[in-house]
Order: sequence, then C-alpha cells, then structure tokens
Amino acid sequence: MAKSKSTTVFFCQNCGYESSKWMGQCPGCREWNSFVEETVNKTPHMGVAGAQSARRSRAVPSVLADITIREDDRVSTGIKELDRVLGGGIVQGSMTLVGGDPGIGKSTLLLQVCRNLSEMGRKVLYISGEESPAQIKMRADRIGAFPENMLLLCETSLDEITEVIRAQKPEVAVIDSIQTMYNENVSAAPGSVTQVRESTGILMQLAKGLGVSILIVGHVTKEGTVAGPRVLEHMVDTVLYFEGDRHASYRILRGVKNRFGSTNEIGVFEMREQGLAEVQNASEYMLNGRPENASGSVVACTMEGTRPLLVEIQALVCQSSFGIPRRQTTGTDFNRVNLLMAVLEKRSGIQLASCDAYVNITGGMKIMEPAIDLGIVLAILSGFKNKALSPKLIAFGEVGLSGEVRAVSMARQRVAEAEKLGFETCILPAVCAEDCRKNSKIEVIGVKSVQEAIDKLF
Ligand code: TYD
Ligand code: MG
Repeated sequence: MAKSKSTTVFFCQNCGYESSKWMGQCPGCREWNSFVEETVNKTPHMGVAGAQSARRSRAVPSVLADITIREDDRVSTGIKELDRVLGGGIVQGSMTLVGGDPGIGKSTLLLQVCRNLSEMGRKVLYISGEESPAQIKMRADRIGAFPENMLLLCETSLDEITEVIRAQKPEVAVIDSIQTMYNENVSAAPGSVTQVRESTGILMQLAKGLGVSILIVGHVTKEGTVAGPRVLEHMVDTVLYFEGDRHASYRILRGVKNRFGSTNEIGVFEMREQGLAEVQNASEYMLNGRPENASGSVVACTMEGTRPLLVEIQALVCQSSFGIPRRQTTGTDFNRVNLLMAVLEKRSGIQLASCDAYVNITGGMKIMEPAIDLGIVLAILSGFKNKALSPKLIAFGEVGLSGEVRAVSMARQRVAEAEKLGFETCILPAVCAEDCRKNSKIEVIGVKSVQEAIDKLF
C-alpha cells in the first residue's frame, strides 16, 4: 500500500493558483496578498505496473449504440424559465452549480425548486450551512405553502451530510452553500480552495454513485467568478449564474456550462414579495414605462440565446461646455459607441465632435451584441436632431466602419418578436429584408447603409 504524505501548498484564494511558496502577488490573477497555506494529502503517484499489481481492473467498456436514454431521466423543476436554462430539467445524478452575488436570490430560487419538486411527490433534501431552520422557515413562509414531506438539514460537516444523504436517498439534494461546507480530513478553513475542491469531489461521487441530483450554491468573488474557483466549474456538470441589477427587480439566470444542453439560454425572473416569479414576456417587461415621442429613444432587438429581446436605447446629445466632449455609456460598450459616433461624423457628416453624448440601455441590461449598432446610431441621431422617431419602430443591424449596415443572425425571429409586441415598422439590414418580409404584417425597411436609414427617417 502506498503511504499518503501530507504537504503544505499555498493557494491563491481568489483564483486557485497553486504555489509551493508564499507570494505577495498572484501571478495568475494579479491579486495582492491572496495566498494562504493549506495542507493537502498527496498519495505518491503509482506507476502503471504498481497500479496493476495493487488491484485488478473491473471496468468494462460498453457499446455506445446499446446505451438507451430514458425520458424520465430529466426531472422538471416546475419553473419553466429554469428548465429552459437546464436544457429541459434536472438530469438524474447530475451536479449543478448556481453562482451569483449575495442577496441575488439563489437560496430563494432553490427553495422554490424544492417546494415544486416535493409537491410533485419527489423526495428532496435542502441542506443549509448558512441559515438556521427558523430563518429558512421564515423565507419559506414568504414563498408560500410547503408540502409536508420536504426534508431540511442545517449542517456544515460533510461527513454528516454524506451519512444523511446515504440514509435518506433523496432524489434531489440542495447544498447551500459549498463555501460553508467542511471536510474534517482537510485541515484548511471552510471556503478555502482545498476545502471547496475536496467537498465538491465528495458530493460528485455521491451524485454519480447514488444517482442523486445535487444542486449547489456557490458564492462569487468580486471579479464575478465562483469563489474557490475554476476548479469547481470544471468538476460540475452544469454552471448557472444568477445575475441582475441591484436596483432593478428582474434577475437573469444564465447557463455558462451545460453538459446536457445549450448554454445559450437565459431565464428571466422578477423578485417579488412572495419570492421569484417567472417573466415569460421579457421584451414587454423591458419596455415597460417607455416614454413615447421622446427624442433619443429607439427600440432595438438583441438575441439572448435563441430568444429575441427588445430593449430601449436612450441617447442624450447636447453641446459640450468644455473643450473635450464627455461621452458616457451604461449597459453597452463605451468604445463601440465612440466608434459609431465617428462613423456618423465621417460618413454622414453629422457634427458630433463638439457634443457630449450619454447612451443608456434601460432596465439595467448589458448588451455587447453588434446587432444593436443601428439602434444606437439612430438614438444618437434622434437625440442630436431633437426629433422623436415613431414609437412603433424598431431597428437592428451591425454597423461597419464604412457606414454600411451588415447582416445579423436570426433576423426573422427578431422581426417576429417586434410584430408580436405590436410594432409597425422595422429597419434592418437590406440583405435580411427579403427573408423577413415573408408572412409578416410588419413593414420591413431594408437599408444598406446608415445614410440610407437617415434619409428614410429624418
Ligand atoms: P436570497 O435568496 O437570500 O439570496 P442569496 O441566497 O443569493 O444570497 O435573496 C434574498 C433577497 O431577496 C433579499 O434581499 C430579500 C429578497 N426577497 C424578496 O424580495 N422577496 C422574497 O419573497 C424573498 C424570499 C426574498
Ligand atoms: Mg443564500
């Protein structure tokens, strides 16, 4: 038998960088003073011959064609928006990581999932290392009535948790949060890189071994990645991020990694008094309270995965009182807006050099997709000329450096979404126009260049 040997290693608590000596600055993430000494048990590596003599392999490969997939391997969570992001539901024996800022609603979402699942008669176990049973009960009371069969455990010791899961054999278990869990065999503090990695490893074996689906909550660092970090994302099957603006009530659940589905999907929720509610019509929600007949406001269409989302772009353009004009953007790329303003100036002769410009995507959305270029350009122009565009107009298209309007993907879906919400005119790249005119009642105006769009609108 190989003897295990414990050594100490230094880990960056921010990114997980491993080093044999202490360092002031992490070479991986450039964070200062983030190294902490942790003890790790290293089993001396066995050679191939050693491994063979130690045990005889029992692994038998299976034929891919013989493996069948059962429909009931996926469990619906009862929350459509979440099911969509998961790729149809929770896969049996899978491990899902839900990350997000503190207070965004991770515990609330998972408690709602537990309620739905136990209402469907499934056995669920909610394990919390952060809150007392009374606190969880208080939250549960806000969400609504809970079925009686739901199990709750407040515990941070992983050994105890493993025992309970083995004994109870729930179908779904929730661990809130992985950073509070500790394994006695590891001397590092809870939340440290080694502890998080070891705990996840143990849970992973439980999930695969017993066929329990495990959902774990992970805290994020100030950089926005799950603390104790990439290692965790590599180990689990699915990584979801819960994000949203602190000041807005909507929340977006985004798939970052999914071994069982697409990562293009998003789920939209709204935080209400009684927990999280699904927002099925996100575009309508985003456009709520839009001023009509105001200059500098244009509706554009972006794609979030396979879902079109209409957003309002606002631009305020005014004479600058200083030598260097001020430019500011919220929710979109600053450099991109500067570039689009340069295109307007050079290709269409609009004198923007002496103007301050503020561009804002309303609702706290962050959109980097180039398809909103045309919307930004039109909003800036409308603000500059102080001329309101029709409130029933939407625009999308990528703008190139020569002022040309280039094709974007999934134009038909975008047009269909606009039509669904009662828009009457759609300005889009000329190459996409023909395709979008088929079977649509909305007026489709194809433009080849920014100048052409200006001629048609102003
Ligand atoms: P929580 O789920 O505790 O966040 P996390 O686990 O991600 O840290 O979310 C708590 C926040 O949501 C808190 O600020 C209060 C708010 N909230 C509501 O607005 N309505 C509700 O019904 C609940 C349960 C929470
Ligand atoms: Mg919580």
